[in-house]
Amino acid sequence: MRRLSGAAFLLYLLIALLGPSNGADTLTLDHPLADGEEPLISEGGSFTLGFFSPTGSDSRYIGIWYKKISVRTVVWVANRQRPVTGNHGSLSVAANGTLVITGENSTVVWSSPSFALSNPVAQLLDDGNFVVREADGNPSDPNSFAWQSFDYPTDTLLPGMKLGWNLTTGFNRTLTSWASASDPAPGEYTFGIDLRGDPQIFEWSGTRKVWRAGPWNGLRFTGVPQMTSYNMLSLQFFVDATQVVYVFYMIDPSFVSRLVVNQSGTLQRLVWVNDSKFWNAFWYAPMDACDTIFPCGPNAVCDTSRSPQCGCPQGFQPKNPTNWGFRDGSDGCVRKTEVDCRN
Ligand SMILES: *[C@@H]1O[C@H](CO)[C@@H](O)[C@H](O)[C@H]1NC(C)=O
Ligand SMILES: *[C@@H]1O[C@H](CO)[C@@H](O)[C@H](O)[C@H]1NC(C)=O
Ligand SMILES: *[C@@H]1O[C@H](CO)[C@@H](O)[C@H](O)[C@H]1NC(C)=O
Ligand SMILES: *[C@@H]1O[C@H](CO)[C@@H](O)[C@H](O)[C@H]1NC(C)=O
Ligand SMILES: *[C@@H]1O[C@H](CO)[C@@H](O)[C@H](O)[C@H]1NC(C)=O
Ligand SMILES: *[C@@H]1O[C@H](CO)[C@@H](O)[C@H](O)[C@H]1NC(C)=O
Repeated sequence: MRRLSGAAFLLYLLIALLGPSNGADTLTLDHPLADGEEPLISEGGSFTLGFFSPTGSDSRYIGIWYKKISVRTVVWVANRQRPVTGNHGSLSVAANGTLVITGENSTVVWSSPSFALSNPVAQLLDDGNFVVREADGNPSDPNSFAWQSFDYPTDTLLPGMKLGWNLTTGFNRTLTSWASASDPAPGEYTFGIDLRGDPQIFEWSGTRKVWRAGPWNGLRFTGVPQMTSYNMLSLQFFVDATQVVYVFYMIDPSFVSRLVVNQSGTLQRLVWVNDSKFWNAFWYAPMDACDTIFPCGPNAVCDTSRSPQCGCPQGFQPKNPTNWGFRDGSDGCVRKTEVDCRN
């Protein structure tokens, strides 16, 4: 008898731990996610969504990270500009489908655009996408999503996520670096697609363009020879009347790979090395200081094997010797003697 009640208690504990019956990957009106509660876990066990603090910070954010990767790697942050202080945070789905993060005294710190759904649920899918839809909608049909985190990237592009433009709505998706390792607020560097000319991926530092990938040649961006498809992943660039987007897919799903803009402005293709338990930089761009737009200004030549990297060709001298002396080559070089074109 005692043993039976012990077993019953264990069963009860197990049910309590497994959480509400609507599934551990879903938020509903009745089941918000409070800080300190079990996070959401996607059905295949690939991703987790919950409150976290970045290393070196006490601030609380709603984020998504890999469930199976031992080094916590955050791939998306909701309230990147307005963290919750203390442990009173809560993520809920409002009656009309709007997602809301509240802090102390139910102060709203973040919310998604507002909708007019009638019976909304928010679900963490196994590809890392957090979606809002009607409860009776189809979780595998993107057209049934009223909102998806994949449309609001932070610094990371996951397989199947689009970088770029929906031309019908003018909606554009970009990647922006974290401000620092302890602060997910938008930092200095942004990657996105510029539609002018041949559409291509550009990097901006603030409003200044610092790098371009070159036009797409059908297989890769011409400026990034290393950025080819491999056996394990497929890169695609769609340009038509409805969209201009870059997207990649894993061919071999046993590999885990992501693109991330790090705080120094480098776009890295990282691959998880399971045996050694670290993220390996498969390729990155810009490759070096010379691989940027106008690293040395007009008429100058850039050579990373040289220090300083910027030099003036024969017959030229620095236009601004003072700045040049401080290794700022952006003014470039001018001829030592003007070319006399009139004669
Ligand atoms: C929350 O409410 C309490 C009691 O009214 C107040 O002391 C506290 O300052 C409030 N906190 C915030 C963040 O508004
Ligand atoms: C949806 O609900 C949120 C939170 O209650 C509210 O702020 C928003 O105005 C509502 N949107 C619409 C369209 O009713
Ligand atoms: C694209 O979106 C980003 C982020 O929302 C914005 O900063 C940028 O200005 C947009 N680009 C254009 C060309 O509208
Ligand atoms: C562009 O956005 C609209 C409105 O959200 C959507 O219906 C359409 O399918 C999107 N187009 C593409 C190519 O994703
Ligand atoms: C990675 O290693 C874990 C155990 O260390 C194993 O369960 C998992 O299947 C491995 N994944 C891959 C992709 O090999
Ligand atoms: C960014 O990536 C580059 C290239 O992999 C690396 O050298 C640099 O240390 C990284 N910066 C940070 C802050 O991680």
